[in-house]
Amino acid sequence: MSASFETKVTVDLKAIEQNYRVIQKRLPAQQQPICIIKSNAYGHGLCEIGQALAKAGADFFGVRDLCEGILLREAGIDADILILLGTIDRSYKEVVEYRLTPVIYHLDWAKRLNEEAKKRNKVCKVHIKIDTGMTRVGVSFNQALSLCREVLELKNLQLEGVMSHLAEATDEQYTQFQHEQFNQVRQEIEKAGIDIPIYHLGNSTAAIKGLFPDCRKVRPGIALYGSYPDPVLEDEVSLQPTLAWKTSLIDIKQVPKGQSVSYGMTFKTERPSRIGLLPLGYADGYPRLLSNRAEVLVRGKRAPIAGRICMDLTMIDLTDIPEAKIGNPVTLIGKDAKETILVEDLAEQAETISYEILARIAPRVPRVYING
Ligand SMILES: Cc1ncc(COP(=O)(O)O)c(C=O)c1O
Repeated sequence: MSASFETKVTVDLKAIEQNYRVIQKRLPAQQQPICIIKSNAYGHGLCEIGQALAKAGADFFGVRDLCEGILLREAGIDADILILLGTIDRSYKEVVEYRLTPVIYHLDWAKRLNEEAKKRNKVCKVHIKIDTGMTRVGVSFNQALSLCREVLELKNLQLEGVMSHLAEATDEQYTQFQHEQFNQVRQEIEKAGIDIPIYHLGNSTAAIKGLFPDCRKVRPGIALYGSYPDPVLEDEVSLQPTLAWKTSLIDIKQVPKGQSVSYGMTFKTERPSRIGLLPLGYADGYPRLLSNRAEVLVRGKRAPIAGRICMDLTMIDLTDIPEAKIGNPVTLIGKDAKETILVEDLAEQAETISYEILARIAPRVPRVYING
């Protein structure tokens, strides 16, 4: 049998496009998405996802940093690109040269950026970020108006947007509190006669629930990748999984009853067993916390992880799948015949969120794109 022992992730670009359209249909007519493709598009591949979404009509992207912004420009993406971390790396010159839109929350950044834009006779768009209760990135909400005023004085900057971020969009009370803070600043800005074209606060949950119709933009991320930020949203929209993660069986051992498997001897066979070997481990982003918890799919059946997941190898119990052979494909995330493993299943077993499972699939795992 010819077998490729490669571990790979297959990304379905049509599914990404369909999720984008599903989200877009939920938005009020005057609202458009800023597609969040930061951190390598949640592990899916920054440029490929950017290009697929641009083809589907997306004209505004949110990325982590300057480096991701430059990669998108070099991949031929002409859309607006919001740098969510702002100019933390002090790369004002590149921000101007690559026509990127940084998030701003320090006046010093704005001044330096203005100088660089002035030198090049350019105007650089910026969005001011307000901290409305996340205590992460952003100017405190009672200083927001004065930062807006100061940025407006800088003639080579265009204050295009004011934004904030939700701490827990599924928590109605806290979201309402953040929205009120945001609106209070917005009203102060408007009362001061300052016209800012774009306000945005929402993420995937907000987009699906249509939470802030008065904002011109919303920033969906995880929903584009087919994962529900909250299980209750499964009744609201139908999203498609966008990624399958597969490897193959590289060896099978017949072992007696009472044999321990892997580091720490945490798994002991309770019967004569067949133990399969997979060429991936936590260095590939398969969480060690899945040891003795998760299952994989082999020949359309579920096989449990046996013992601790190692750095580069993982063992599985194939005793109930006698037809399994070396070279057979093994599904970590995705479908095999009638069985499916969702990223949400792994997230729950690894005591984390789907975002982390997706974003931590290691760069060494090749991404293959289908339906482009
Ligand atoms: C600033 C910002 N906006 C939007 C998003 C997208 O959120 P979600 O993936 O929950 O839709 C994120 C993701 O963490 C973010 O950090």
